[in-house]
Amino acid sequence: MHILLTGGAGYIATHTCLQLLAAGHTAVIVDNFVNSKPEAVRRTEELAGKKVELIEADVADRAAMEAVFSAHHFDAVIHFAGLKAVGESVEQPLRYYRNNLDTTLTLCETMAAHGCKRLVFSSSATVYGVPDKVPLREDMFCKGCTNPYGWTKYMIEKILQGVCNADPEWSVVLLRYFNPIGAHESGRIGENPNGIPNNLMPYITAVAAGRLSHLNVYGNDYKTHDGTGVRDYLHVMDLADGHVAACDYAMAHSGCEIINLGTGIGYSVLDIVNAFERVNGIKVPYVIGPRRAGDVDMVYADPEKAKRLLGWSAKRNLDDMCRDSWRWQKNNPNGYEA
Ligand code: UFG
Repeated sequence: MHILLTGGAGYIATHTCLQLLAAGHTAVIVDNFVNSKPEAVRRTEELAGKKVELIEADVADRAAMEAVFSAHHFDAVIHFAGLKAVGESVEQPLRYYRNNLDTTLTLCETMAAHGCKRLVFSSSATVYGVPDKVPLREDMFCKGCTNPYGWTKYMIEKILQGVCNADPEWSVVLLRYFNPIGAHESGRIGENPNGIPNNLMPYITAVAAGRLSHLNVYGNDYKTHDGTGVRDYLHVMDLADGHVAACDYAMAHSGCEIINLGTGIGYSVLDIVNAFERVNGIKVPYVIGPRRAGDVDMVYADPEKAKRLLGWSAKRNLDDMCRDSWRWQKNNPNGYEA
């Protein structure tokens, strides 16, 4: 398959690109580098031993996307491009709605004009909002999101469902990611957040590296086994394999499917800290602080549908995630900067 990856220089996209190339597919990347580096693509090519065409463009730029689709015949598109910081979305709602919705609309209009109607979309477990119960199943009612970022994912899911309803030639897979962590086992590519990390694992690795003094644990009075928040962490390479399987599925089916990508196992913040310390032999000092606004007790997936439809399930365990996250950080103290 010849596949377009929008936002293809990002964390999940580079790992997915590698697995697509390993499976014998070819890839083209469009990225505006607002939150990524060309070096990530260079290293992906190096690991794969294959070339990827890299186009610097904004997915909302209609003329640029028209040129991309005129130059290529894509079998499918994986749409990763989008702003993704929860806190920032609360501060800058218009920027988030404009960017995430515009890119998707322009992409889908250009795809339709060129007869390319197979799409895999990076959605998120955030669309479940505050869950009534876990594990989360795809057919559970989503009562609403807690921030504009989440709402953009929710709205894009609705837009893409509408597109499939209107035209049966479309095939869309909405992948609801849980909490991706880890990195490729080579330690050459990984997550490279700007500034102080928002998410747990990049924060832990920054503390382990001595860049930050301690982890702030956001609350220990949740209804969980140790009082700290429980999430479904999955290895980014497993997530990447899920995308390859989703592309195969989109090629063979039509209509719109929502599919969770998670392990089905919930770990608390302290479970992650303890596993990280044990696996890597490094202390991660932490301080228990107040809850973070918008956080919930427990989020983990029912991964049964992914197994049934895609034949996919997570293979890597928490030790692998902790080891590979640390290897990436240790080998690249400045991320993709030299
Ligand atoms: N946490 C801390 N300290 C930190 C960072 C996080 O204690 O410095 C805790 C949080 O309170 C939570 C857990 O670690 O209990 C995980 O937090 P993350 O910020 O890593 O992840 P979230 O589950 O809050 O959110 C992530 C993504 C969202 C996505 C969501 C889907 O950041 O984009 O998963 O469930 F929408």
